Amino acid sequence: MQTWTEGTGEQVSTQLFQLEADAETVAAYVQALDQTRLLFDQLQQDKVGSLEQFSQIFANVLEKSTKHLGLFRSLYVLEGADSYTYRHSLNVGILCSLIARLLKWDEQQVTFMGNAGFLHDVGKMRIPKEVLLKPDKLTEEEFAIMKKHTTYGYDMIRKMEGGSEKLALCALLHHERLDGSGYPEQRKGDEIPLECQVLAIADMFDAICSDRVYKGRTSPFEAAQLLWKEACNGLLNIEVVSVFVRYIALLYVGARARLSSGEEVEIILIHQDEPMRPLVRRSGEFLDLRYERKLTIEKMIG
Ligand SMILES: [Fe+2]
Repeated sequence: MQTWTEGTGEQVSTQLFQLEADAETVAAYVQALDQTRLLFDQLQQDKVGSLEQFSQIFANVLEKSTKHLGLFRSLYVLEGADSYTYRHSLNVGILCSLIARLLKWDEQQVTFMGNAGFLHDVGKMRIPKEVLLKPDKLTEEEFAIMKKHTTYGYDMIRKMEGGSEKLALCALLHHERLDGSGYPEQRKGDEIPLECQVLAIADMFDAICSDRVYKGRTSPFEAAQLLWKEACNGLLNIEVVSVFVRYIALLYVGARARLSSGEEVEIILIHQDEPMRPLVRRSGEFLDLRYERKLTIEKMIG
C-alpha cells in the first residue's frame, strides 16, 4: 500500500519542473507550500496567527496561478501523496478563487474565496495525527473525531486576528450538502451560504483528483463527471458545477491523457453538451468519447 507522509516540497518541486511549468510559478507554489507547512504546524501548538499572515502566502501563488494556467494543469499530473493537507489547502484556495472569477464575482469576493479555500481545513491541525494520517479506512469513532475539524476550524478562524464570522462559517459548513446529508449541522439548500456551496465543490474536486490513501488518483475529467452526478442528485449547486466543469474541460485541450483502455490520447475538442467526454486523437485517428461510453479518461499525463 502507498504510504502517506507529510514530507517536504522537494518532491513537488522536482516534478513541477519536469513538467516544464513556468519556473517562477513553480517557485511561488513551492515557497507557498513550505510557508503553509510552517504556519499550519504552529496552529497545532495553539498559536492562531493573523489572517494577514495566511493571505500573504496565498496572494503570491494565486496571482501566479491565474496568469499561468500551466500550473493548474500540472497540479493534477503530480505523483505521490506528499504534503497532502498543505497542498490540498493551497489547491482549494486556488480553485475557490477561480470559481469566484468564473461566476464574475468582484475582486474582493475573489480574494475572500481564496482565503476561505486556503483555510477551510485548518481545523485538521487539531485532529490527532493517528486519525489524520491513518493509512487505512477510519472506524466510525475515528470518523466522528475527523468530522470535528469543521467546528475546530470555525473556532480557530474566529480567534484569528482579522478573521470574520463569514470566513469562519466557510470552515464550519464546507461539508454540508444541499439535501441535508452533510455535517456538522445538516443544513439544507439556502441555509448553506453560497460561498460554502462553492467551497464544497472545490474541496470535493481536489480531493477526488489528488492521490489519496485508499485509491489511485482520478483524472480531472472523471472528477468533473462525479461532481456532475452529485449535482444531479441534489447534493451540490448545479449552476456552479456546470460553469466549473466546462471550464476545467477547456483547460485540458491539447493535454495528453491515458484512457481506461491503456491507450494514450490527446484531448482535441470539448463538446458543449458533454464537456467531460471530449473528442480525442489516438495515434492519427479521432475518437469521440461521447460515443465510446465504456472508455473513461483515467489519468492526465502531461
Ligand atoms: Fe474538510
